[in-house]
Amino acid sequence: MKKFKIKEFAQLLGYHPQYLRVLEKEGKIPPARRDPKTNWRYYTLQDLIEAKKQLGIPVNEKPTIQVFINYKGGTGKSTIASNYAYNLAQLGFEVLAIDLDPQGHLTRSLGIPDEASRTLPTIMDGITKGDISTSIISIKDNLLHLIPSNVNLTIFEKYLQQQSIAVETKLYKLLQPIMPKYNYIIIDCAPSVSLANINAMVAADDIIVPIIPDFLSYDGLNLLFKDISALRENATMYHARQIRIIVNKYDQRLSIADILIKTLKEEYKDMLLNSIIRQDATVERAQAKLLTIFEYAKRSKFAQDIISFTHEMLENEKKFTLNTVGAKND
Ligand SMILES: Nc1ncnc2c1ncn2[C@@H]1O[C@H](COP(=O)(O)OP(=O)(O)OP(=O)(O)O)[C@@H](O)[C@H]1O
Ligand SMILES: [Mg+2]
Repeated sequence: MKKFKIKEFAQLLGYHPQYLRVLEKEGKIPPARRDPKTNWRYYTLQDLIEAKKQLGIPVNEKPTIQVFINYKGGTGKSTIASNYAYNLAQLGFEVLAIDLDPQGHLTRSLGIPDEASRTLPTIMDGITKGDISTSIISIKDNLLHLIPSNVNLTIFEKYLQQQSIAVETKLYKLLQPIMPKYNYIIIDCAPSVSLANINAMVAADDIIVPIIPDFLSYDGLNLLFKDISALRENATMYHARQIRIIVNKYDQRLSIADILIKTLKEEYKDMLLNSIIRQDATVERAQAKLLTIFEYAKRSKFAQDIISFTHEMLENEKKFTLNTVGAKND
């Protein structure tokens, strides 16, 4: 069971840690628990849900679906998605990661070797059986859940091509029955223009675009954003509330990186996240050992940068939640 430290708990509620004591005295949040060994104060996920209810902050009944996509290859989609999913699960959220890429790199990044993933179900097996939950496996000592992928998933694209109506909403509809179980569904896409990726974007609440600071990546964004605009105009179920660009593999020694970031800031001001993920060879070593960065080197640059990214995403989430409260009160 995840134990939230006071600071984390305060952050998730959107308050200063000292204010928690005031809220506790006023009986507005459940009292902190104490670890019998260390005597430290902590809270559980249950306390978080209870506190949110008492404070009138809506508790998500639906998960937030976050899709990692870029038509360009090798920008860090799978690496960031897997470590972010793990980080969210460590914070106590119920997380389902979905590997939508027949290369299966998310699956591997989350600890499953290729030989093993070949015999595991993919999302396509769930479709064939008429029950998507049959494709979900528990991983990392039950910390999080995964719909794996392997080369067999190439038939997903063929399956979508054969659909005659509402082809772009298949994935979103398939996910509906399992949604109440999760706080977050994290989807990792293949670097392709495909129906599978259109489906992922239609299902998305947040579209997250990892980019490496070079001009080729920058050019590739246009095509993706053109497709997103077309979806916004034409796909009835498209509902993404934000598109966020995250710079990955940042190397401060390369002046091109700073020039690109400056250009991105000018052109995509509202989309660009403040967090930047630095180039760090530790991540490849972790992946070679089939470990997330938090299991392999939790003090590494990459781990620290994923934590910053997670915190920024949680801050954004809070804005949306608080907006909903505001809208209800108006
Ligand atoms: N911040 C980083 N520092 C160093 N290496 C990184 C970093 N992020 C990703 N990598 C490495 O870059 C390579 C590509 O990353 P990854 O597979 O996550 O990209 P991708 O966008 O998912 O690729 P694809 O488009 O093929 O799906 C991997 O070998 C990964 O270990
Ligand atoms: Mg990938």
